[in-house]
Amino acid sequence: MKYYFFILLIIFFSACKNEPSKPQDENQVASVATVEKGLILFQENNCAACHQPDQKVIGPSMQEIATIYKKENGSIVSFLKEEADPIVDPKMYESMKINLQVTKTMSDEELESLELYFLSHSK
Ligand code: HEC
Repeated sequence: MKYYFFILLIIFFSACKNEPSKPQDENQVASVATVEKGLILFQENNCAACHQPDQKVIGPSMQEIATIYKKENGSIVSFLKEEADPIVDPKMYESMKINLQVTKTMSDEELESLELYFLSHSK
C-alpha cells in the first residue's frame, strides 16, 4: 500500500514538472492518462494472469494486442467499455468478456492509461 502511494506521488510530481508553464489545478493533473497508471491498473486488476508481454498464456500477448490495434487503428478504450467487438482473438472472447464488467466501470482516464500501457508493448 505504501509503495502504491509512493508511485502515485512520483507520477503526480513528474506530471507537474513536465508542464511548468501551464497553470493546472489538482483535478487536471489527476486526469492525465499515463503508461505508469496503466501499469498499476493492469497489476491491480490481475490482467497479468492472462496477458504476458510477449507470449500467449491464456490471452494474447500484449505485444500481439498492441501490434494488431496499431495496424487496425482500433480503440482499446472502446473494447474495454464493451462498445467495440474483439479484433485480436474473437474465438476466445468469452474468456475475456467477464473482465469487461470491471473495466466498464473505469473512468476514461483509467481506460486511456491501460490503452497506453498495452500500446507501449508494440514492436
Ligand atoms: C481469464 C483470463 C483473462 C484476464 C484476467 C484478462 N484477459 Fe484480456 N483477454 C483474454 C483472452 C482469452 C483474450 C482473447 C479474446 C479477445 O480477443 O477478446 C483477451 C483479449 C484482450 C484484449 C484484446 C481484445 C480484442 O480486440 O481482441 C485486450 C485489450 C484485453 N484482453 C485487455 C485486458 C485487460 C485490461 C485485463 C485486465 C482488466 C484483461 N484483459 C484481463 C483473457 C483475459
